[in-house]
Amino acid sequence: MTLRIIQVGLGGWGQNWAKAIVAKNKDVETTAWVEIDAPSLEAARKRLDLPAEKCFTSLSEALDTVPADAVLVTASLPGHVPSARTALLANKHVLMEKPFAPTVAEAMELIELAEERGLTLMISQNYRFEPAARAAAEAIAQQKIGRLSTINIDFRRYDNTAPVDEHRHYHIWEPLLVDMTIHHFDLMRLVIGQDPVQVICKTWNAPWSKYDEPAEGAMTITFDGGAVVNYRGSWVSTGPKTNWAGEWHMEGEKGELVWTSRGELPESAELRLLGETESTALELPTIAEHDRAGSLAAFVTALKTKTVPETSGRDNLKTLALMFAAIESAKTGQPVDVQ
Ligand SMILES: NC(=O)c1ccc[n+]([C@@H]2O[C@H](COP(=O)([O-])OP(=O)(O)OC[C@H]3O[C@@H](n4cnc5c(N)ncnc54)[C@H](O)[C@@H]3O)[C@@H](O)[C@H]2O)c1
Repeated sequence: MTLRIIQVGLGGWGQNWAKAIVAKNKDVETTAWVEIDAPSLEAARKRLDLPAEKCFTSLSEALDTVPADAVLVTASLPGHVPSARTALLANKHVLMEKPFAPTVAEAMELIELAEERGLTLMISQNYRFEPAARAAAEAIAQQKIGRLSTINIDFRRYDNTAPVDEHRHYHIWEPLLVDMTIHHFDLMRLVIGQDPVQVICKTWNAPWSKYDEPAEGAMTITFDGGAVVNYRGSWVSTGPKTNWAGEWHMEGEKGELVWTSRGELPESAELRLLGETESTALELPTIAEHDRAGSLAAFVTALKTKTVPETSGRDNLKTLALMFAAIESAKTGQPVDVQ
């Protein structure tokens, strides 16, 4: 049976979801598009050639008008919790863009609401659906480099060329930690396979940064199985750009695993055992649906099979907790336990 979806939020990313992801999934049919800002809705409607009678500025109105099984939330963060709450209260399943929610309390409220009603609440952590990330996770789980110690991760991009007034991204809350590093926090949990226990973080803005809030940061995160991550991230780096998942150097007692994923540079995962000079490329698994298409396919599968998706809201709480601990540490200058 086709899954009927209402999509909420038609900014740049939401429009791309509609055209490049949802429209291409044969198991899904969009029954309405919702965008709270009327001029943005009209612009998206024209650009995507959407039927006017299926376009709404209110999710409640769309829910009252068209049939739907689920709601896909691709709005900006302020729209996440209100949209998901409205959807769950109308007994619809929810697939939502990261970051889940602006507070842990609101994330918990949504998780409990979904669980009470037997609904699926999933966060799209799309970076998980890429070959090198999966190959790295598998190699670590199989103890290819044994017990882990130091892991160095670098993320560099130069997103600093747009006019300040025209680029909403320059004005969002915690552009590094909340918008970008949330992906890396989630990948750490997947690939390392341990839970984070403490973080000490510093964030700042380069003098040339167009961002209102810190676009650069560094942190050390300790994990419950002994892994320690040193992370450096920047939205305004003048160094060579990395892939979106960053560059990962993972050291274990038997050697090193170096991998990178999702971006312009080749997807790769290489193993160099202690004492060897050459590294060996790991075979990368075939991923049927990449990135957000992978998230959407996983959501459809979870609903069809009545199983809990890997990146359920409840699972994502741990990624969110690390993000909030990093924000608090950056503000206070103190190490913060991940609760
Ligand atoms: N996973 C990824 O790789 C990735 C990449 C880019 C963006 N994103 C995420 O996608 C989301 C959207 O990003 P964007 O770049 O399109 O942001 P944007 O600010 O350009 O657009 C967001 C749109 O959502 C609309 N909106 C806000 N609240 C709403 C509500 N309650 N109901 C309906 N519409 C509402 C806004 O009016 C705006 O048009 C964010 O959560 C962002 O973090 C994810």
